[in-house]
Amino acid sequence: MKRVLITGGAGFIGSALVRHMISTGVYRVLNFDKLTYAGNLASLREVHDSPNYSFRQADICDRQAVTDAFAEFKPHAVMHLAAESHVDRSIDGPSAFVQTNIVGTATLLECATAYWRTLSGGSATQRPAASEFRFLHISTDEVYGSLGAEGLFTEHTSYDPRSPYSASKAASDHLVRAWHHTYGLPTLITNCSNNYGPFHFPEKLIPLVILNALEGKALPIYGKGDNVRDWLYVEDHAKALALVLEKGVPGESYNVGGNNERTNLQVVETICDILDKLHPRSDENDKCLLIRDKEKPRQSSTINHQPTKAIKSYKDLITFVKDRPGHDMRYAIDATRIKNELGWSAAESFETGIAKTVQWYLDNDWWWRPIRDKQYSGQRLGKLIN
Ligand SMILES: NC(=O)c1ccc[n+]([C@@H]2O[C@H](COP(=O)([O-])OP(=O)(O)OC[C@H]3O[C@@H](n4cnc5c(N)ncnc54)[C@H](O)[C@@H]3O)[C@@H](O)[C@H]2O)c1
Repeated sequence: MKRVLITGGAGFIGSALVRHMISTGVYRVLNFDKLTYAGNLASLREVHDSPNYSFRQADICDRQAVTDAFAEFKPHAVMHLAAESHVDRSIDGPSAFVQTNIVGTATLLECATAYWRTLSGGSATQRPAASEFRFLHISTDEVYGSLGAEGLFTEHTSYDPRSPYSASKAASDHLVRAWHHTYGLPTLITNCSNNYGPFHFPEKLIPLVILNALEGKALPIYGKGDNVRDWLYVEDHAKALALVLEKGVPGESYNVGGNNERTNLQVVETICDILDKLHPRSDENDKCLLIRDKEKPRQSSTINHQPTKAIKSYKDLITFVKDRPGHDMRYAIDATRIKNELGWSAAESFETGIAKTVQWYLDNDWWWRPIRDKQYSGQRLGKLIN
């Protein structure tokens, strides 16, 4: 079995990746995660008892903790997802992004290189061979900046990040490339489009809209809702990452995208259409929410118990709000390389993936209710003062 050290494995994509890697039966995973607001061990409930899964709560900026993890776990590979990941939070507080995404990645690279140099041809101590070792850095398409109406991001598109988040991810990509060219560390990079799916922290557009809708709250859309993103179902992303780890060529990068471009308004309207079918607004549904509400004590009531007679569709809750500062207009990925060279393509269309996602949030309030009640109930982030 191969041992894989996954950073950020309690986050949205990281937890999907951990679940996927464990499900293959051929990996042993150490999840190395600080558990910031975005880390949630409940997302790992299904693998928690697996003998192939272990967890260590630690910060990737903590050199000793990272060094110890390498020495004790002896990984064949690192899959690096730990990051501050929300653009709006990067507008409110960029320094955490510089610290984790840049300083943390540099620390991890230094420790990985020191460990990799101790490996030779593999040995009785069950260390992997140096030639087997891989460092896969998971990045974003946002490093490429913003597209106009035409064109796609390829692996050769120049970097042009525009938010503190994307700038910090771009910096981390540059560090990873530098470690490959300078020290020979066998690195791989993936740049992925917007993910969605189960266990997504409800500060991001899709889960925020689903939960606000269920609670009868406004569905906020930045600007005119015409910004375009290329949506990828998170489980397709996890499979792509496993494939890049196994078959990717060290020193290369791979774009990962679902070929599912939608405007933000289209995304929100699609969610409303699905909810109108699966969970129509009615007095009965509201009563259900009220009963559940009483069963689980809440700090504050987030469900709007106003009469809903006037609401025919969840679309009536759509509200256009002031745009995000510096909001990139369009992202779209050309995923030809990963398709032609590694044989990956997304299994889910946006229509199938979003239907599964909405159903998952309807079925799994055990996961999201504590977050909405105690951590984050949907308030606007990243507005800039004034
Ligand atoms: N979400 C997307 O649509 C998307 C798209 C492309 C790329 N990415 C990239 O994929 C990765 C994972 O994204 P996500 O959406 O799952 O993020 P997330 O915010 O849901 O999770 C981040 C995880 O990293 C952990 N973490 C944060 N700082 C840490 C530190 N200093 N040390 C150790 N752990 C720390 C958090 O506790 C959390 O579990 C990120 O690197 C992100 O840039 C995300």
